[in-house]
Amino acid sequence: MFKINDNYLKLPGSYLFSNIAKKVNAFSEQHPEATIIRLGIGDVTQPLAPAIIDALHGAVDEMAHAETFRGYAPDLGYEFLRNAIAKNDFADRGCEIAADEIFISDGAKCDSGNIQEIFSLDNRIAVCDPVYPVYVDSNVMAGRTGSYDPLTERWSDVIYMPCTEANGFAPEFPKQTPDLIYLCFPNNPTGATITKSQLQEWVDYANRVGAVILFDAAYEAYISEDDVPHSIYECEGARTCAIELRSFSKNAGFTGTRLGFTVIPKDLKANGVMLHALWARRHGTKYNGAPYIVQKAGEAVYSEAGKKQVTEQVAYYMKNAQTIREGLQAAGFTAYGGVNSPYVWLKTPDHMTSWEFFDYLLEQANVVGTPGSGFGPSGEGYFRLTGFGTYENTLAALERIRRL
Ligand SMILES: Cc1ncc(COP(=O)(O)O)c(C=O)c1O
Repeated sequence: MFKINDNYLKLPGSYLFSNIAKKVNAFSEQHPEATIIRLGIGDVTQPLAPAIIDALHGAVDEMAHAETFRGYAPDLGYEFLRNAIAKNDFADRGCEIAADEIFISDGAKCDSGNIQEIFSLDNRIAVCDPVYPVYVDSNVMAGRTGSYDPLTERWSDVIYMPCTEANGFAPEFPKQTPDLIYLCFPNNPTGATITKSQLQEWVDYANRVGAVILFDAAYEAYISEDDVPHSIYECEGARTCAIELRSFSKNAGFTGTRLGFTVIPKDLKANGVMLHALWARRHGTKYNGAPYIVQKAGEAVYSEAGKKQVTEQVAYYMKNAQTIREGLQAAGFTAYGGVNSPYVWLKTPDHMTSWEFFDYLLEQANVVGTPGSGFGPSGEGYFRLTGFGTYENTLAALERIRRL
């Protein structure tokens, strides 16, 4: 009789977004006249920029002719895209990353879920709390996290680094020494960032204890302040301790088009073995590359027109985020984020739980957000709103919240 991977059965089940959908549907049925505004979404809403659409059309036409048709993509991705990334995302920021240290993929979710495969099951992971759930759940599936305690909502073999108001939503070095450290800045869900000198301390720490930092920079395009690093490779010594995950989803609207990349410097080694070689082997064995058409679209993000257009899109979402943060503060809420990130993290009023505030906001203002407790126990008492809606809806939602 076959046996399943019963690590999957340990997963407590992510009820967050299905619970939200259920509650919103029930409310709509009872109140068909209510116009609900959704500010909980982590998905973009603006269409792909014209330069990207032009590149897509051009690439589709190439596929129609034998002379320009493309089949399987090279394992690491097309050189035209890896060169554009190496120049724009790294060389221009003073980071030493070569094009052949960049692995093109279909997004940061897959890469952040799959990367743990190249590490032994004995490794101890450390995550921020609250956290993007993929980091923990993919390690649960692999069998690296021990047992789950529903009371504390924690795994026995995971090191949690609480990110709270008290520490400015920046993790502190854990008491136990981790082997793999997941960091995501600008952060989903808190919207917090850390400065370059804070990140440098993490790089120094990882090099000192022999840990690898898995740095998720999916939201780097939203950084507006100077001392916030766009890449971990801005820090000295990161080439020997850090893997960086990047996405085209939030900077250029590729959530449905799918494109991302992972950087593994060749200096990152365990007992002389390059992690780069392991990931290249995995890529070659299990992955056949992002479509040519989509990689051409990705290249267009780095064209002069593309850069200008995606910068305008990010500015649109950031205007929403600023409207939310300032609107909430004017209405007497304590709100964080929204400066270097599309996410605003607000404290629920009157000691309401995250879910109590969800119900209150839905019923009284017909506005939907995301309860902070869904991202981990330290998210209790917080609530996430995002700048990814339309400006008109954002203004209308804030006006309703102000009138509460
Ligand atoms: C922190 C973080 N990493 C990665 C992703 C997913 O990126 P992609 O669309 O490239 O898979 C998200 C999406 O919400 C995210 O919040």
